[in-house]
Formats: sequence, C-alpha cells, structure tokens
Amino acid sequence: WQRQTTDQTLAGQRVLITAGGTREAIDPVRFIGNHSSGKMGWALARAAYWAGAEVTVISSVPAPMDIPAKVVAVTTTAELQAAVQRLFPQSDLLFMAAAPADFRPAHPATNKIKKQPGQAEMQLTLVKNPDILASLKPQRRQQIVVGFAAETQQLLTNAQAKLQAKDLDLIVANPVGGTDSGFDVDQNQGTLLFADGSQQTLPLTSKEVMAQAIVAAVTTKILDGRR
Ligand code: CTP
Ligand code: CA
Repeated sequence: WQRQTTDQTLAGQRVLITAGGTREAIDPVRFIGNHSSGKMGWALARAAYWAGAEVTVISSVPAPMDIPAKVVAVTTTAELQAAVQRLFPQSDLLFMAAAPADFRPAHPATNKIKKQPGQAEMQLTLVKNPDILASLKPQRRQQIVVGFAAETQQLLTNAQAKLQAKDLDLIVANPVGGTDSGFDVDQNQGTLLFADGSQQTLPLTSKEVMAQAIVAAVTTKILDGRR
C-alpha cells in the first residue's frame, strides 16, 4: 500500500473509528438492529488514512479492503464497547460513527422462537446497553473524541445535549430518517458542533467528501491548537 497523497495533516496520529450498527440477538436467527450501513465510518477511515493517519476500524460491517486499516469485527454493543475500551488508550483520535443498539433482549433464546397456534402478539423485554462514549470518561487523557448525533427532530438541540453529556470535542449533528442523507445511503449532511460553541454547516454531499471535511475541521479547529 502506497499513500498517493502529500496531505500529511494526520501523520503520526493513531485514529480509531467505529463503523456500522450493532445487532442484538433475539434468538439464533433474529436480531434487533438499525439501518446504519457503516458507510460514514468507512469514509472517515479513508479520509484519515489519506491524511496520513494510522487507522484502526472497529466495524460491524465487512471491511471494504481499499485501505490498509487494522480491522476489529464486532456484532453487539457489548463487543463494540469491549473493543473501544481496549483500543482507546492507544489512540489519539476517536470517531464514533457506529450506531450501537441502545437496548438488547434481556433473555435471548437458545433455540429459534416458534409461533404458537393462534398467537396474535409477542412481547420482548429489552435491557439497556451501556453508553460507550460516556463510559470512556475515566480513561480519557488527551484524546480527541468525535461523536455523531443521529436525529429525526430537534437536530441541534439534541446534538448539543449529547456533546455535553458525552464530553465530546465535536459532535456531528446528523439528520437521519430521510431518503437523501443519513443511514444506509451514499450522501450525508450535518452541522458540526464544537465544544467551544462554534458551528460549521456541512451541506448535502457524498459521505466521502463529508468525511474529508470532518477530518479537515478536526485538524484545523482542534488538533492544530494542541500542537
Ligand atoms: N453511542 C455510544 N454508546 C451507545 C449509544 C450511542 O457511544 N450505547 C454513541 C454513538 O456512536 C454516537 C453518539 O453516542 O457517536 C450518539 O449516538 P445516538 O444514538 O445519536 O445517541 P444516544 O446517546 O444513543 O441517544 P438516543 O439514541 O436516545 O437519541
Ligand atoms: Ca442511540
């Protein structure tokens, strides 16, 4: 692998990225999940690699194999949390683009659940998964931590609350649920909310271009100030 770029803005930086939605087993053949495709996470991985970074991706979707990233495969939120906890101490930047399932079935069945004759409904008890970003607070040193807020309403208010609650340096307020941007499509848009209160709007574009804009913003607005 030969980097064909002169952009070395992230040279020497160890960048950890999470990508894709997690899946929580209901039984051996069914799961609870979401529409996250991992495209934004992998676009960030490419952008970081082309900016000279050493890239590790914790991914719930297959690796595209077009950049030499270290890949850790995960399925559940618990596995994602364990991998992030293990790799975060040896990282300089974390981009948390994954969409972890917030809840998991309390008692996943060992065997495939069968419908009963005449059964009209079924109930599933879910228990809350840990908040991975919030759980990193005790391990935080100088790492730059970037989160994504997936919202269908009150985008900026909800994103701002998450920026503070999760102690982030930057959150990407990301409208989801539409057909032109967000989960499982090739385009995205959003607003960058920085911890210092400044904002930057990212208009609708490909996830690749948006990832490059996010990496550039992190470099100029946060990283350069610390070097
Ligand atoms: N996140 C996390 N651990 C979770 C859930 C989310 O670390 N258990 C991270 C996501 O990867 C993302 C950010 O937190 O970077 C915001 O995720 P989002 O789903 O938008 O927010 P939640 O805090 O889960 O709140 P809600 O889904 O209720 O809006
Ligand atoms: Ca969530």
